[in-house]
Amino acid sequence: MEISLNDLSFIEPVKDRLQLVEERLHNQAKGYHPAMEAALEHLLSSGGKRIRPILTLLTGGMLGTDPERLVPMAAAIEMLHTATLVHDDLIDGSLVRRGIPTLNTKWSSAATVLTGDFLFARAAKLAAETESVTALHLFAQTLAVIVDGEITQMFGDRGRANRSDYNRRIYAKTASLFETSTTATAIIANSDDAIKEKVRQYGYEIGMAFQIVDDILDFTSQTEKLGKPVASDLRQGLITLPALYYIESYPDDQDMITVIENDPCDESCLKRLLSAIRASGSIEKAMDEADSHVACAIDALAGLPDCTERTSLIELALYIVRRNV
Ligand code: IPE
Ligand code: IPE
Ligand code: MG
Ligand code: MG
Repeated sequence: MEISLNDLSFIEPVKDRLQLVEERLHNQAKGYHPAMEAALEHLLSSGGKRIRPILTLLTGGMLGTDPERLVPMAAAIEMLHTATLVHDDLIDGSLVRRGIPTLNTKWSSAATVLTGDFLFARAAKLAAETESVTALHLFAQTLAVIVDGEITQMFGDRGRANRSDYNRRIYAKTASLFETSTTATAIIANSDDAIKEKVRQYGYEIGMAFQIVDDILDFTSQTEKLGKPVASDLRQGLITLPALYYIESYPDDQDMITVIENDPCDESCLKRLLSAIRASGSIEKAMDEADSHVACAIDALAGLPDCTERTSLIELALYIVRRNV
């Protein structure tokens, strides 16, 4: 699995602090039930790109945020992300993440839910270590938005799938946490409102691009590369941006209608649909949309302190659309 970002140069300015974040994360189950310690170790040692804490640390470096408060915020955000993945994999019935079996393949649903809850609790405790009530408020609000997004996706009406619903959905499940990764940092740094707004916009735009690319990779990547099964969205009946563009061009495609109407869609129907979508130009259209979010993100960085961290934030934005994991 090629999931490590360690060889990417934009990490350079925050490498040492990222190590501190890693230690903070690993310490969170010490003194609790050994099963919880083992579960946390299983989750953390499987890798993950750590893109959100890198984002927090780079933004904090650019704004001069106190490291004593920045490191716990970066750890809190990664912990919150990890907790949402534990619950998400249970909800989605996913068996593999980061190339290894998910907790829900080893444990009962009850134990998996409780582990997720424990991680949420530790995330909140880490966020509280920033000693900023405003940042904590934003953190709590973001979790509510993520959960609301998961519920909306679960209860959503596929037949009425459209691009504005899609944008709302990917904001809730992904871009909201990216936005908080940068905004909370500016809050802790006591930055003025104009700076806060710029970093918020940067976080929002790369978050939207990140989820669009995640949805594209579900069509274009391989399971071994991604560390999680590909082609799983359509299989679950989830209509993402490439599929939405495809529907706009081919509204009468019978296989697509079958997926949308929640009728049983067998493997041959899925296979046909996947290759039709891949050949239709819809993936390129989705990629153009991700690119334009990245361009907006880079624009938002103009006027912020010119420093190595800002250069890294530009590289990070470009990496998001070039990545293949
Ligand atoms: C996975 O996030 C869930 C999404 C929001 C797409 P990442 O792709 O950041 O997952 P890891 O942490 O690197 O495994
Ligand atoms: C990821 O959602 C979970 C959250 C961001 C809450 P998905 O179900 O779409 O992502 P993967 O494919 O499992 O990583
Ligand atoms: Mg999932
Ligand atoms: Mg999901």
